[in-house]
Amino acid sequence: MADGRNGNNNFDTVALSEDGRSLVIIDQTLLPGELKRIELSDQRDIREAIYKLKVRGAPAIGVAAAIGLYLAALEISESAEQEDEFFRRLGEAKRYLQESRPTAVNLKWALDRMYARASAEKGTGVPAVVSAMRREAETIRNEDVEVCRRIGENGLTLLKKGQGILTHCNAGRLACVRYGTATAPIYLGQERGYAFRVFADETRPLLQGARLTSYELSEAGVDVTLICDNMASSVMSRGWIDAVITGCDRVAANGDTANKIGTSGVAILADHYGIPFYIAAPSSTIDFETATGRGIVIEERSGDEIKKMWYKEPMAPEAVKTYNPAFDVTDASLISGIITEYGVLRPPYDVSLRKLREKIEAEKKRKGENL
Ligand code: MRU
Repeated sequence: MADGRNGNNNFDTVALSEDGRSLVIIDQTLLPGELKRIELSDQRDIREAIYKLKVRGAPAIGVAAAIGLYLAALEISESAEQEDEFFRRLGEAKRYLQESRPTAVNLKWALDRMYARASAEKGTGVPAVVSAMRREAETIRNEDVEVCRRIGENGLTLLKKGQGILTHCNAGRLACVRYGTATAPIYLGQERGYAFRVFADETRPLLQGARLTSYELSEAGVDVTLICDNMASSVMSRGWIDAVITGCDRVAANGDTANKIGTSGVAILADHYGIPFYIAAPSSTIDFETATGRGIVIEERSGDEIKKMWYKEPMAPEAVKTYNPAFDVTDASLISGIITEYGVLRPPYDVSLRKLREKIEAEKKRKGENL
């Protein structure tokens, strides 16, 4: 694989190995220092890679989990010839992977879809079920590329040449297979001479903006400026930001949106300065079953990420209490538009999201899918 340096940004973040026996990911905990690809086949390693953010970002987590469940099926098939036992153990593997992170709904979405595909093949024998799961995992992965590209096209209609765009966390190609979601309009704009000026929040405490967004955008030759999270108001007040675009981990049925911690603060600032605030959301990130943001489970992580990580010496007293929610919920009223692969949704989101759901269901029916 190309090492991604010197403008060579041509890598896939998540893939199935050519022999179909392992998950191939970029270990994102090593970036920006090292672009290293690792191969995982053991379920424990795959779950740990998701929990430890070696692979992260809602769409990439979904694709990794889909491939992970196929690999579990492959392993189970080596010792379970009867379908009953195979499906019992597949159900356990699904639960095991799903417990790795709670907020990004793509994880559940991908695992449910994989399990539904397997169930649809019941009665054809274990090897046929496993083959169908491999095809489904590859479809989920390929769809991610296409979906992100369409989000890019739709997002670009909201922007003008030379504009300043602020983004938070990393909703870039490292969070997906390619293109990213929030960054997709930026990459397409880059190809078409839009010359955007991008401001990337560093995104405490895990620094996805500094380590990942500023890395991948600068590798791609985009004009990117890194700022600390507490500088967003300052750059907005200077008139340098024309639009904010972030990704998301889960959109509730009323448009409330969970994304990386700090996003809701950026949305409040954007509202204050009269700057449009957009969420880029593949439909796999929309949770039609959760009515409002209050129903979204927010992951809490270790206080060491605040006190110790990145520092030579602890930067807080050992005994001090911490609170480290990994995500927050942005109220739907602060969101100017939700950029999906189907188009840009506008408020009121309970209505536009319901219409989108009907459209997706009609599309599935047309294709004869029961998933
Ligand atoms: O904890 P992370 O790094 O997985 O959080 C990622 C985000 O919050 C992203 O903005 C979101 O998943 C969208 S990625 C296209």
